[in-house]
Amino acid sequence: MISYKDLGLVNTKEMFAKAINGGYAIPAFNFNNMEQLQAIIMACAEQKSPVILQVSKGARQYANQTLLRYMAEGAVAYAKELGWEHPQIVLHLDHGDSFELCKSCVDMGFSSVMIDGSSLPYDENVALTKKVVEYAHKYDVTVEGELGVLAGVEDEVQAEESHYTKPEEVIDFVTKTGCDSLAISIGTSHGAYKFKPEQCTRNAEGKLVPPPLAFDVLAEIEKKLPGFPIVLHGSSSVPQEEVDTINKYGGKLPDAVGIPEEQLRKAAKSAVCKINIDSDSRLAMTAAIRKTFAEKPGEFDPRKYLGPARDNMKKMYTHKIVNVLGSNGKAE
Ligand code: G3H
Ligand code: 13P
Ligand code: ZN
Repeated sequence: MISYKDLGLVNTKEMFAKAINGGYAIPAFNFNNMEQLQAIIMACAEQKSPVILQVSKGARQYANQTLLRYMAEGAVAYAKELGWEHPQIVLHLDHGDSFELCKSCVDMGFSSVMIDGSSLPYDENVALTKKVVEYAHKYDVTVEGELGVLAGVEDEVQAEESHYTKPEEVIDFVTKTGCDSLAISIGTSHGAYKFKPEQCTRNAEGKLVPPPLAFDVLAEIEKKLPGFPIVLHGSSSVPQEEVDTINKYGGKLPDAVGIPEEQLRKAAKSAVCKINIDSDSRLAMTAAIRKTFAEKPGEFDPRKYLGPARDNMKKMYTHKIVNVLGSNGKAE
C-alpha cells in the first residue's frame, strides 16, 4: 500500500472547493507518455496552475501502471525543480470501470479515482460507486462518479446518443454514494468528432458550428446541489488550426469538431470545476509531428520530432489554463 501523500500528491477536495468559490476550473489532462507529462508540468509550473493528471485504463495498458505512477511522482519533483514551490498535483484514474481497478489505483498511490458506472442501470451505478467510495475514503482518496451518458466512445461502450444527466437523480445519487464530484452529460462527448455534421450549422467559411451545450440542465443540477463539484468530460475544443495542419501534411480528419472555448469558459465560471482534455493534446502532438516529417523527411532522431510536439502541447496547455479555465496563479 502506497499513500499518495508520501508521493507529494494531493486529492481533489481543497482544489475543487477553491475552484468553485473562485469561478474557475481545474484542468484534467490525460497523459500516456513522457512528452505529454513534461509539457503539462512545464505549463502548470510556469502558470502556477493546479492540475489533475489523468490515467485511463488504456494508458495503464499502454505505458504500464507502475511506470505511470513513478512518472507522476517524478512530476512533483520536476515541478519543484522548475521553481514551482508548492505544486498542487492530483493523480487520477480516468473512467475506472470496476471496483478492482479503482482499488488497485488507490493501493498504488493515486489520490483520486473515477468510477464510471454511467452505462449501468441506476441502482447498480449507485451500488458500485458507493463501494468504491467506501474503500477510497479510508485512504483519503477522492472519488468522481458519473450520471448520464456521453455520446461517442465511453470506455469500450459505444453510446450512439447522449443521455443528458437527469437533474432529478443527482441528490439521491450523491447522497447514497458519498462521491466527492459528479461527471455529468450536457452535450459534450469524447474524441475529435463530437457532433455529426448534420447536428451543426456552417459559418461563412464553411466550418462546422456545433450546437450549444445544455446549460439549462447544468443550471438545474447546480440548483439541486449547490456548491457540489461538477465535472465535464469530453471538453476538447478540437482547434481548427491543428486539424488543418494535420490535413495539410497528409492526415485525414474531415469535419472534426469540438466544444467552442467560449462555452467552456462559461462552464468554468459555474460549479463545473474539472474540465477533461485529452484529444486536443493528441491533435497538438500529431500536427507537430506530421509537419516535421513533411518538412524534414531526412529526420529520424525522435527528439527532433517529439521536441516540437512537446512545445506545441505546452502551448496548448498554457492557452487552456490562461484563456479558458482561468486556473493560472491558483497554486502559488
Ligand atoms: O475519456 C477517454 C480519454 O480520452 C482516454 O482515452 O481510453 O483512449 O486512453 P483512452
Ligand atoms: P476529449 O476527448 O474531449 O479530450 O475528452 C477527454 C476526456 O473526457 C477524458 O476523460
Ligand atoms: Zn472522459
